Order: sequence, then C-alpha cells, then structure tokens
Amino acid sequence: MRIVTSIAAMQRQARQWQRTGKRIGFVPTMGCLHAGHMSLVRETRKRVGKAGKVVVSIYVNPTQFGPKEDFSKYPRDLKRDFKLCRAEGVDVVFTPGDKEMYPGETCSRRCESADEPRFDKRGYSTCVVEEKLSRSMEGASRPAHFRGVTTVVAKLFNLVLPDVAVFGAKDWQQAAIIKRMAADLNFPVEIIVAPTLRERDGLAMSSRNKYLTGDLRRQATVLWRAIQTARTAVKRSKAVPVVKLKADLKRLIKTEPAARLDYVEFFEPDTLSPVSKVTRGTHMALAVFVGKTRLIDNAQL
Ligand code: PAJ
Repeated sequence: MRIVTSIAAMQRQARQWQRTGKRIGFVPTMGCLHAGHMSLVRETRKRVGKAGKVVVSIYVNPTQFGPKEDFSKYPRDLKRDFKLCRAEGVDVVFTPGDKEMYPGETCSRRCESADEPRFDKRGYSTCVVEEKLSRSMEGASRPAHFRGVTTVVAKLFNLVLPDVAVFGAKDWQQAAIIKRMAADLNFPVEIIVAPTLRERDGLAMSSRNKYLTGDLRRQATVLWRAIQTARTAVKRSKAVPVVKLKADLKRLIKTEPAARLDYVEFFEPDTLSPVSKVTRGTHMALAVFVGKTRLIDNAQL
C-alpha cells in the first residue's frame, strides 16, 4: 500500500493507472475509519476487480465545518487508519495537507462568498455549489457545509480520477448532492451508494460516536428508535400525516434527557422533495444533539 501526500504525486499515479487501462475506485473519507468506511472499501474493490486500483482519501476538510463546529476536535488516528486500509488491500491512501488543498490563510468558514474581505488572503477563490438539494436538512442547519463538501469532492475527483466512487447511505443527502454534482458537471465517474452499517443496538457507525461517553452512548440509540417508531406507524396505517408523526417523534426524543432534536424530515428518496403523507418507501432523515454531539441518521420507511 502506498501513502501519497502530495497532489502532484496523486495525479501522476492516477494518470499512469489510466494509461495502463486500470479501473480506479475511490472512497473519500475524513479518517478515523470504522467498519462503515471499510464496507465502502470492500464495495469499491468489488466494482473495480482484482486488477483495478482502490484509493481511500483521508482528509478532514476544513471548508465543510462551520465556525462553531468540531473541526479542530474531529477525531484523527492516521496510524490506525493505515493499518485498516492495508488489511483491506487498499492500493493508495491519499492524505493531502491543508496548505496544498487550500493555499493561503487558514480560518474556519474557508469557503464563504467572494465578497468576504478574508477571501483576499486565500490562495483560491472557486467553489462548487449545488443549488437545490443542498438547501434543506443538513444544508439548512449547517449553512456552508455542502459547499465545502461539493468543492472538496470535486477537487478529489480531479486528483484521483476515479471511474467509480462509493459513498455511504448514512449521509443520504450528501450522496444525493454528489450524484447531482457529478451529473451536472459531467464528471466521468459512476457514483455508488452503499448501505449504512450499524452497531448491534442500531446506532449508525460514525467517527463522532467516539464523543459519546457514559450514558450518552445509550441515549444515542434514540435516533434508531425514532426510525423504528416511524416504520411501525407506516406499517399500521398506510398513509400517516407528517405533522402527526413529527409530533410523536419529538415526544420520543424528549424522553432522553441529553437529546435535543435538530430536525426530522420526510421526503422522496431521490429528489429529497418533502411529502405531507408518509407511506411505504418515503425516506426519513433526522439530526439530534446528544449532549454536545450532533448525530444524523436516515432510512427508507
Ligand atoms: P466521513 O464522515 O468520513 O464519511 C466518509 C464516507 O463514509 C461517506 O460516504 C459516509 O457516508 C460513509 N459512512 C460513514 N458512516 C457510515 C456507516 N455507518 N455506514 C456506511 N457508510 C458510512 O462524509 C464525509 O466523510 C465527508 O463529507 C467527505 C465525503 C469525505 C468529504 O469531505
């Protein structure tokens, strides 16, 4: 397994693979890898075959964090990540540095509008913005988040030159936005969405679960319980009014003392268009603070 840290070396490697007809599969991550990430790696290997090449990027992307979010505290453990990738037969781990990815001044909200005075001090002034799917849910709660995600993923696609890139259903809205971006900007890459891996008690695996100490870990299962409650409601009556279901779920989440609901939404899985009646196949997503940790989850009902 090769560890590549420079942009030029990554691009050189990818172009050499392309010239020799190798299929390139790509899993972008922010590291602190867990079984959920590794399931994406396995899916990628399946897609490109033994002869293909699998690249995992590990980059805690500053532009997708808000000024009050956990960028500096975000868990990092490169040594362990390398070990996991090696064991899974990854060909290249790409870990670019901030200075190369975003030259110039580093501060939070690094991808704000060009009118901002601070933009002068940055060595870049181009962002990728998806204008429709990014407005709701995570986009409404975390204003510059998806601009940071689409910008960094577009950059990574240009560096890794993947034929196929695999994203997790865990971040359903993110995957929908990346698919839209790849289609709209004609990236020659197939976007695959792989299922969410969960702990035994239903909690979706996430690097942020590391923050859940003591009783918070148990309380965090309330997201999964909310999904199960919605599933039961849909099974019982074929069309459930969103207003009623939201009220029931708010009540459920309130039963955990450290839990605070940020949003719960019901929508069409592909377009993310909100529905007023929840039926089989409707998608549900929610964000809940458990203590100071913000957790998200989603599922088809
Ligand atoms: P990160 O949170 O590290 O996630 C990397 C990939 O792993 C994403 O596609 C995410 O959906 C997937 N993933 C996370 N938890 C999962 C789980 N329990 N089961 C299956 N897949 C899971 O998402 C990001 O990083 C960043 O926004 C990134 C796309 C890398 C851009 O910076």
